Amino acid sequence: MPAEPDDDGAEEGPSARTSRGAGRDAGFQHYFSAHPTAPHATRPLRFLYRGQVLNCTTDRGIFSSEGLDPGTSLLIENMELGENDRVLDLGCGWGAIGIAAAIGAPRGRTTLTDVNHRAVHLARSNVKINHLTNVEVLQGELFAPVGEELFDLIVSNPPYKAGREVILAILQGAPAHLREEGRLLLVGKGSQGILYYQAWLRERWRSVDVLARSSGYRVLLARGPPRQ
Ligand SMILES: C[S@@+](CC[C@H](N)C(=O)[O-])C[C@H]1O[C@@H](n2cnc3c(N)ncnc32)[C@H](O)[C@@H]1O
Repeated sequence: MPAEPDDDGAEEGPSARTSRGAGRDAGFQHYFSAHPTAPHATRPLRFLYRGQVLNCTTDRGIFSSEGLDPGTSLLIENMELGENDRVLDLGCGWGAIGIAAAIGAPRGRTTLTDVNHRAVHLARSNVKINHLTNVEVLQGELFAPVGEELFDLIVSNPPYKAGREVILAILQGAPAHLREEGRLLLVGKGSQGILYYQAWLRERWRSVDVLARSSGYRVLLARGPPRQ
């Protein structure tokens, strides 16, 4: 297993290089606290997906409260969906990935989950604002909110700051929640250990492709995990 070299020479993600990310972990709490105590500071934001302008609201105390994260944006651009796909967005934050997935799989169903109650509240509200009906948003740890449900696609910009144990729990838990031919789509950058997770997946899954690379981020698509 390789160490965790920085990919593409990028030490820091764009959040560290621009003022946009300065408030990302506001309130001296991690964005993955279940009950953030940072004072609320909601703000509107818009992003474009498949020609549709999506209006959303973010808040302090959650990940990427000041805008669409560049890794998330790269992942969304490279997310291939079947129109009937059953999708899980694990660690949904304010909902960008899951909302895009629900639009890209209009006849399927998308479940968004997060441990952070504030994120769940916002994601629910963002789903509503954008008139999406093929979506549910659930609070809880890792796969607990979805029980034994199976998905065509599990997609995540996972909580690297929560530590390798949590990321490996997601990778280890995914096979039991995927249908036959199910896919796992992840984004991460070199300083978050994406090369380590890529190698980890390559040792265990049938195939792992790098769908995109930009500014140190990689989007990984893994298929065909052995059944557990
Ligand atoms: C890197 S953020 C990504 C948020 C969102 N998907 C995005 O791309 O903007 C990871 C998310 O995982 C959530 N999270 C952290 N630990 C978790 C856990 N054990 N179970 C579920 N979600 C968790 C965090 O609250 C956070 O919203």
